[in-house]
Amino acid sequence: MIKIGIIGYGYWGPNLVRNFSEISECRIIAVSDLNEARLRLIKARYPSIETTTDHQSLVSNPDIDVIIIATPVSTHYDIALSALQAGKHVFVEKPLTETAEQAERLVAEAEQRNLVLHVDHTFVYTAAVRKIRDLIDSGELGDLYYYDSVRVNLGLFQPDVNVIWDLAVHDLSILNYVFPFAPIAVSATGISHVPEKPANIAFLTLFFENNLIAHFHVNWLAPVKLRRTLIGGSRKMIVFDDLEPSEKIKVYDKGITVNGSKDNLYKSLIGYRTGDMWAPQLEITEALRVEAQHFVDCIKSGKRSLTDGRVGLMVVRILEAATQSMSKRGQPVEFN
Ligand SMILES: NC(=O)c1ccc[n+]([C@@H]2O[C@H](COP(=O)([O-])OP(=O)(O)OC[C@H]3O[C@@H](n4cnc5c(N)ncnc54)[C@H](O)[C@@H]3O)[C@@H](O)[C@H]2O)c1
Repeated sequence: MIKIGIIGYGYWGPNLVRNFSEISECRIIAVSDLNEARLRLIKARYPSIETTTDHQSLVSNPDIDVIIIATPVSTHYDIALSALQAGKHVFVEKPLTETAEQAERLVAEAEQRNLVLHVDHTFVYTAAVRKIRDLIDSGELGDLYYYDSVRVNLGLFQPDVNVIWDLAVHDLSILNYVFPFAPIAVSATGISHVPEKPANIAFLTLFFENNLIAHFHVNWLAPVKLRRTLIGGSRKMIVFDDLEPSEKIKVYDKGITVNGSKDNLYKSLIGYRTGDMWAPQLEITEALRVEAQHFVDCIKSGKRSLTDGRVGLMVVRILEAATQSMSKRGQPVEFN
């Protein structure tokens, strides 16, 4: 039996408690939150779970094997480090840390101690994103041209991070999972409409070798909620609309053909191809349930998590570079 302590029972924490409590190999021993009212809620729903405002008592509890961290980003590093140092496996919310340096330290600590450090990049565990990866892997899309996403709504302004760290982190984790290439540079622009607060709207472009490009538009100040991504390839294109109750993915057999010689561009002709559209059938299991099981399997088998600390670090590096670029009005930052 894997014994779990969960720190943070705000907006996301209850989803973690619910999903981990459904896994037969796990038992949630205790939940910690600074807010007593949140703890009363959990006591009412799960009377057998212990509650405390002191998260350190979970970290030092020898009965606990796993610490799950669902607190604000600025607290992830200190809590995760102390949990790893106490010999616990760690499941931490996205983004892993506030800086790449902190993420590197956590990765080193986990690897040195042979502990699982898993980052909750939830989208990687959705049936839609897994299907997109299959379609790309099988070559159905042809050469990859672009990834273009809009992720906007009237969102909660986070006090400690800008909108890129809250929303673009999802696209970065999807991209990392579905694309076989890593970006070579990032450019970002963004602005805050509330004095002294982090940017609430941002546009981020990732450059790759060859003709591939990715662009994300993220915004906490939009009148409607949109979660739509286009992925263009030379043979087919995908529209992924996460708000669609079914048919989240549509695959279009549309594209262009360029006829004519490369030497004489004036004579090349663009031909348009419009074929069928299909919507693949997708599993309906909740992503967090799939992810919780994957995390438990990694602890039991010692295999690498799909979204381990190294993946979390890669994402934090891009977020950090994007924030740097944003402070210079979009000046690209190159990755080595
Ligand atoms: N995977 C996802 O799709 C997803 C979705 C939403 C949020 N998140 C992530 O979850 C994390 C938390 O976000 P949220 O929206 O739930 O925030 P929140 O503010 O609603 O909840 C955070 C909770 O942590 C508690 N807390 C803070 N410091 C603590 C400490 N030292 N000990 C115990 N409790 C403490 C607070 O009292 C609060 O109840 C963030 O990293 C966020 O990015 C992930």
